[in-house]
Amino acid sequence: MDKVLEIISKEVGDAFEKAGYDRELGRVTISNRPDLCEYQCNGAMAGAKKYGKAPFMIADDVAANLAGNEMFEKVESVKTGFLNIIVSGDFARSYIVKMLHEKHMGVTMPGHEPTYIIDYGGPNVAKPLHVGHLRSAVIGESIKRILRYTGNKIIGDVHLGDWGLQMGLVITGLKERKPDLCYFDPDYKGAYPKEAPFTVSELEEIYPAASKKSKEDEEFKAAAMEATKLLQDGYKPYRALWHHILNVSVEDLKKNYNKLGVSFDLWKGESDAHVAIPDMVEYMKSKGYAHESQGALVVDVAEETDTKEIPPCMILKSDGASLYNTTDLATIRQRMDEVHPQGIIYVVDKRQELYFTQVFRCARKTKLVMPETELHFVGFGTMNGADGKPFKTREGGVMRLENLIAEIDEKMFARIKEGNPEISDEEAKDTAHKVAVSAIKYGDLSNQPSKDYIFDIDKFTSFEGDTGPYILYTMVRIKSILKKFEEAGGNVKDAKLGNPDSDAMKSLMLLLTRFADSVESAAKDLSPNRICAYIYDLSNAFNSFYHGTRILAETDEYKKESYIALLAITLKILETGIDLLGFSAPERM
Ligand code: ARG
Repeated sequence: MDKVLEIISKEVGDAFEKAGYDRELGRVTISNRPDLCEYQCNGAMAGAKKYGKAPFMIADDVAANLAGNEMFEKVESVKTGFLNIIVSGDFARSYIVKMLHEKHMGVTMPGHEPTYIIDYGGPNVAKPLHVGHLRSAVIGESIKRILRYTGNKIIGDVHLGDWGLQMGLVITGLKERKPDLCYFDPDYKGAYPKEAPFTVSELEEIYPAASKKSKEDEEFKAAAMEATKLLQDGYKPYRALWHHILNVSVEDLKKNYNKLGVSFDLWKGESDAHVAIPDMVEYMKSKGYAHESQGALVVDVAEETDTKEIPPCMILKSDGASLYNTTDLATIRQRMDEVHPQGIIYVVDKRQELYFTQVFRCARKTKLVMPETELHFVGFGTMNGADGKPFKTREGGVMRLENLIAEIDEKMFARIKEGNPEISDEEAKDTAHKVAVSAIKYGDLSNQPSKDYIFDIDKFTSFEGDTGPYILYTMVRIKSILKKFEEAGGNVKDAKLGNPDSDAMKSLMLLLTRFADSVESAAKDLSPNRICAYIYDLSNAFNSFYHGTRILAETDEYKKESYIALLAITLKILETGIDLLGFSAPERM
């Protein structure tokens, strides 16, 4: 369905043409003077030179042609040649009604369903999720939902860090703690136990301890590297251990992502790319893409136009070991072979931008991807504490995601109980969690992904201002009115939207017509913040309407029904909006 701006621009374009001017001049934008009008057209200014006429004369001609047009309440030519446009209430109403008949509420769907892989989350096995992983999960999940909604087939892949030195560190750390395990007995011939020889909490202890030790103890580090190599070369006992580490870790990761409303279609990892590496290296060598440099195998990726140095992409180290690069390139090769996606989107810390520039260039140069394959890097900034430094616990340690969520859950639980003493603990807990997730996610997503932001718990959990809880509060307010209306015998579904009868109602209706614009713009630029900005404006517009209108107390039944319909539509749009951001609303709060 055409967007409002397209429809109006066409009408105004017709009027330009009818007056003898180029119809392209009729392009209409949203007014930057909402106190004067809703839409504006500056085409007469642009046409003045071409037609050797004063802009206001052109604008006058066009306004005369639009006089009496039912699409508009008013089209005014004002000095020095602007067209100020106010659409008719009926136009706004009928647009909304049409929009609601569409499956995706006015979003233009692509003719086919392009496939994209989105690589986000990126947690490392054996390490607990910490706040550093929050942004990738939150932004990635939202982009996934937005792109799905706008007609793409999206495959979300968590791309676990499950193959590097950390695995060798855990194995070596475990060996030190429990040397008698069968995995460390070279003569052991039996089958390996099904049960993991550690719990998730033990695992979370082993990794940091081993990592610390490897920095102080050369011998330990060498042993960890040896263990990593053995694992990667397929040494059976370590493979068996590795499966345990993976299973225990993934189960815990799933639990935590679940709490955040984040889910993945694929639980692949760096290890899955391992088998594809030898073949890819051979291919890069035989095609002459890769060459040796100081013993290492590299692909040059610098370009003449570079203003800063882009180092070559290293494929193999001088000892023949593969790197993070190698894994990512081999993963690209596998993804192209298995899925043939239109593009791959990476949601990763922006400090990895140079790295991804190298990887993308290398993938193009070595033709791992097609010339038309899109490779997108969505680099996100750091989540900082109030001091402007990376977010830490009060004690100064790395904050575990689980603890952060629990802390906010608790805070919200107290708030919900205080505001609604009659609510059961169970409902309060569920509601508190919904509100907490909205606070965390909206606090993050309302910023442009690439910007650093300050994680301010008090601000994010406030029921007022540009926050997730404010949006939910608005929705709960609507739900409560609709419920009362039904309790009094009304039927929300049958309520019919009428033409606006106040400025506040009209503003709200015009905002509703902009839903698809905001979603499409978020999809195009991979920027969920556009949806935050939209639903915030919409919530504000709703609240202004609500404060200035008697809804349930309205005695004119026709009007009352129309208000109820407007509330239901606003709720539906807000519900869709927050779903695209990755959270949901409670019934009351
Ligand atoms: N595990 C990596 C890290 O913690 C992030 C993975 C990002 N995705 C990728 N395909 N490289 O830094």
